[in-house]
Amino acid sequence: MNVDVKALGEFEDSLNPAFPEKSGIVPEILGYGEISTTFSMASMSDIAFKRMPPFENSEQITAYKKAVRKYCSMLTDICDIQVSDYAFYDFFNCHEEHILYVAQPRLSQESIGHNVLKTCTRHELETMVIAMMKRFILLFKFNYENRQNESIGLDGQLSNWSFHLSGKNDTDPVYFDITTPLFRIKGKEQLDTGIFLKSCPSFLTWLVRWQFLDEVLDRYHDVHMILIDMVANFHKECREDLIDSALSIINAYLEKENLLTKIHILKKSEVDNYYKNDAFIWSLFLSLRRFDRFMKTKIFRQRYNFILPGKISR
Ligand SMILES: Nc1ncnc2c1ncn2[C@@H]1O[C@H](COP(=O)(O)OP(=O)(O)O)[C@@H](O)[C@H]1O
Ligand SMILES: [Mg+2]
Repeated sequence: MNVDVKALGEFEDSLNPAFPEKSGIVPEILGYGEISTTFSMASMSDIAFKRMPPFENSEQITAYKKAVRKYCSMLTDICDIQVSDYAFYDFFNCHEEHILYVAQPRLSQESIGHNVLKTCTRHELETMVIAMMKRFILLFKFNYENRQNESIGLDGQLSNWSFHLSGKNDTDPVYFDITTPLFRIKGKEQLDTGIFLKSCPSFLTWLVRWQFLDEVLDRYHDVHMILIDMVANFHKECREDLIDSALSIINAYLEKENLLTKIHILKKSEVDNYYKNDAFIWSLFLSLRRFDRFMKTKIFRQRYNFILPGKISR
């Protein structure tokens, strides 16, 4: 990857995180995830950048980078997941804030799973789902066999993978959502989740932590829930019509692998109920953050240091 570090520094110093469109160098937004925003800039149009929430000190950044590296190698070595190339860039900006960017090769929008889903046929759906299932099962086996010691988490949503459906059976999807490295050692999540909660209004952080965070993170370690979450997002992408097909592909695969007693059959009603609850969790989290941005920028006229997603349609 050819990252021009000087240009990245200039970009950062001209960035208006509260209103990215008002920045000196205006970024092209590639996608809003639930937590961070991915964008590119004209001078390096083949690179995707993820700007992380601010860290408090260099030790936090070092620990975070170590967690991402370890996580990516676990995904590859244990789950046979091809992970996108990545590189870290951290430096002090003109506000003396220690900022970290994660750079990745920019993948084509058409290859990204949720975009493929929008127009895919049942056969293409099957190719994508089977390719992911193979990896999820490896993750399941690892988590099951090591359940006293280690566990890997994964956000299996289609929007985190790039596919090249070329007619072959296995498309070797590339996984690129690596900025939330989820793995537990002796039950303890290794990522300092406080970093992400910092973008919440401080007086409400305790509420989110207490009420939702454990529940939200648990499900990424549980293959049944990873699958429910993946399929529930078909609602968001307006492909409810493919939910039944996806469920029969998944359930048949679990049966063939003799895993129905351990992972449990997926039911349509569970997918639908989950979607309602999940949409609620994230829209609450986002609206709390928008409220905080409003207070900071409009009422207190302070600097606001997070790029928030625009309205997510559900
Ligand atoms: N390397 C990349 N190339 C092109 N688009 C990307 C890349 N990484 C992320 N995106 C876009 O941004 C969205 C969110 O990125 P992701 O890595 O999944 O972060 P999050 O943790 O916020 O979900 C993706 O669904 C995709 O549309
Ligand atoms: Mg994502």
